[in-house]
Amino acid sequence: MENIIESIKKDLENVINLSDLNELKVKYLGKKGIITELQQQIKDLDVEQKKEFGIKLNEIRTLFNDLFSVKQEIFETALINLKLQQESIDISLPETVVKTGSKHPMTRIQEQFEDLFVSMGYTVYDGPEIETDENCFQKLNLCKGHPARDAQDTFYLENEVENYLLRSQTSTAQVRAMEENIEKGPLKIVCPGKVYRRDEDATHSHQFAQIEGLVIDENISMADLKGTLELFLKKFLGEKTEVRFRPSFFPFTEPSVEVDVTCFKCGGKGCSLCKQTGWIEVLGAGMVHPNVLEMSGYDSNKYQAFAFGTGMDRFAMFKYGITDIRTIYGNDIRFLNQFNRRDED
Ligand code: PHE
Repeated sequence: MENIIESIKKDLENVINLSDLNELKVKYLGKKGIITELQQQIKDLDVEQKKEFGIKLNEIRTLFNDLFSVKQEIFETALINLKLQQESIDISLPETVVKTGSKHPMTRIQEQFEDLFVSMGYTVYDGPEIETDENCFQKLNLCKGHPARDAQDTFYLENEVENYLLRSQTSTAQVRAMEENIEKGPLKIVCPGKVYRRDEDATHSHQFAQIEGLVIDENISMADLKGTLELFLKKFLGEKTEVRFRPSFFPFTEPSVEVDVTCFKCGGKGCSLCKQTGWIEVLGAGMVHPNVLEMSGYDSNKYQAFAFGTGMDRFAMFKYGITDIRTIYGNDIRFLNQFNRRDED
């Protein structure tokens, strides 16, 4: 037995890895292991010897188990450390800069418009940019050859069946919304989107963005239009903004107005932006012409409507200090990077 104790100590001292260690377990405690075989010999001893032998054997087994677990822990810790070392990250490597995009200024402005009108109970209605002559002009009271078409000359698509064009105003979505509304009842919508015209200078681009509002109901009057626009413009441009309505002409509204606000730059004193007048024109509006309502199936004796339309680019230019409208559509990353701000998102 003393020899066995010695050999256990020696074996466990010399073992160098986990698999050798496990082999030792077989050698001593396996089915034909040294300790197991001694155990089997107990039955052949007499009572006195049995007791002494049993105690000694237990001591040997405990000794083996204790030394075994000490070694096992050493090997397992070494393995974990090796793994940690192999999987460690070299934090001295230079970082890869991840560029995050940002919202385009026009997206920001459109979202601000939508939020405001949705809070006033409007629904956002979207219409296509390729339109028919009928929706863009005829159903808005501009028959073929109407002189007011000149101001909205646009781009025409060649098509044998119908005259398709790029819409020159978001009022086209108005026509669609009225036609789609089968009940021909009340409607309260805003239609934001891109429009196209044959224009190109610092304040006019061949592509720009408008938002059109339309409210149809019984007993709608010019007072509702004025109240709505005053509220919207003050919310958007600041409470101090004054709003002025001037008589104007649009074929699809009667009466029609053009709406000015006190200059956002000088506050009304007169500066280069407002050409010393103190006022800046921001939108067109009016009571929807009965012809327009009737052409889309509405009973103009029962329903009245007001509509307004404005260029969203103008508001973006004012809000972000953009001086040339063409930069909005130029897709120049240096320009766009300037709007990489999170505070408004
Ligand atoms: N659609 C007009 C334009 O583009 C603006 C407008 C809309 C005027 C609605 C009156 C009513 O010039």
